[in-house]
Amino acid sequence: MGKLTARTILRRALELDVRLRAVDDVAIEIEGRQVHPGVWGLAILNAFAEPRSLADDIRSLRGAVTGDQDLENLDSTIRKLYGEGVLCAAGGAKGALRARGFGGAKIHARMLDDRARTSAFLKAIAEVVQPGDVVVDLGTGTGVLAVAAARAGARRVYAIEASGIGRLAREVFAANGVADRVTLVEGWSTRVTLPERADVLVSEMIGNEPVAEDILPLTADARIRFLHPGSRSIPDALDVYALPVTVPAEELRRTTFSPGSVRDWSRWYGLDCSALEKAFAAEPRSLFVLPQEARNWPALTAPVLLGRARLGGGAITGPIGEFRSTSVGGVDWLWRERMSVPVETRGLLNGILVYFEVQLSPRVRLSTAPDSAAGTNHWTCVVWTVPDAREVHPGETLELTHAYTGRSRPRVGVRW
Ligand SMILES: C[S@@+](CC[C@H](N)C(=O)[O-])C[C@H]1O[C@@H](n2cnc3c(N)ncnc32)[C@H](O)[C@@H]1O
Repeated sequence: MGKLTARTILRRALELDVRLRAVDDVAIEIEGRQVHPGVWGLAILNAFAEPRSLADDIRSLRGAVTGDQDLENLDSTIRKLYGEGVLCAAGGAKGALRARGFGGAKIHARMLDDRARTSAFLKAIAEVVQPGDVVVDLGTGTGVLAVAAARAGARRVYAIEASGIGRLAREVFAANGVADRVTLVEGWSTRVTLPERADVLVSEMIGNEPVAEDILPLTADARIRFLHPGSRSIPDALDVYALPVTVPAEELRRTTFSPGSVRDWSRWYGLDCSALEKAFAAEPRSLFVLPQEARNWPALTAPVLLGRARLGGGAITGPIGEFRSTSVGGVDWLWRERMSVPVETRGLLNGILVYFEVQLSPRVRLSTAPDSAAGTNHWTCVVWTVPDAREVHPGETLELTHAYTGRSRPRVGVRW
């Protein structure tokens, strides 16, 4: 990341999820992380909708600044948002490439280190791509999946990438002798056009919260604008599951105002911290955990299917009953809003872990279920904490709630 000076031109990252809880309580979701910018958050996001320098921004907001401390707060919030990748250097003709996040090495190293993930995608590509196919690799990253498609015999691969990592992918194509058949298309997939329609869509856009990286609308847009009708897709289908669990006390202690820690803080510091616990126990919070590290967490019911997306187009197979069907820009999303789930094991219900299973090709399936996630798996699972957690028993039925209709953050909870 470059040094930030008053003249650096910045703009906000193009794809952010922003939640406004109060005017001074903004939560920004970026690549599975939450950033809380404080009182200046909204004004900064607004000001950097278009590229501008730090100096220009501070000048335009000066009228609202209430004193030296406030000015310092504004300046440090901008620097924090830059450090988190929410604001990016807007240099170069593209002007939209993130300075960090997917533009940096770290996230791609983690994905490539996840052998189970990357090998599964390579296997599925070898199974699905036929000699002579035209392939779109949406979000090519380091370019590995595009190279695999070319090796499987694709006549042409369009490798679309919005972040600066695409420039490295170009070198990967050359080093693997496929540069003549792989075309790097720099930019957001929703804004670029391609010269011909494709037979296969390859795309690894599954987030830690499986559907929250906009996999559904982005796939829908690609199917409509880039693909032939009846084309193939890797992945073909995505299932999202919930698992009511007992989150170990040490895990809660590290991430929330748990009763145990609040008690200890009160004792250690001679303060009454119980208000923290009350305020935060009242609503569900999310924490993230590697599923392989949650393998031994007690599961209290069987896994519950929350939703199924048919990314490859065509009709959805599977349960209908209480499922609702929503078309997210043309991709079918079958989901349940409320479900009654029998308790199978006695235990404390204080969390609901969400994981996915994805059908990459007829023969390749990948899962982040705690009992089957690979040791190399890099995806974390979101765990929703349960307000008023309590002991549940076999014979009881839980009422789970879930909502995801398109672009909002999916939420899962339990109704007592
Ligand atoms: C999860 S990574 C996968 C990278 C690579 N395909 C792999 O499997 O190793 C997703 C990539 O898609 C890019 N990306 C996300 N949304 C995009 C969009 N709408 N258009 C183009 N690229 C996008 C990100 O910058 C990132 O490099």
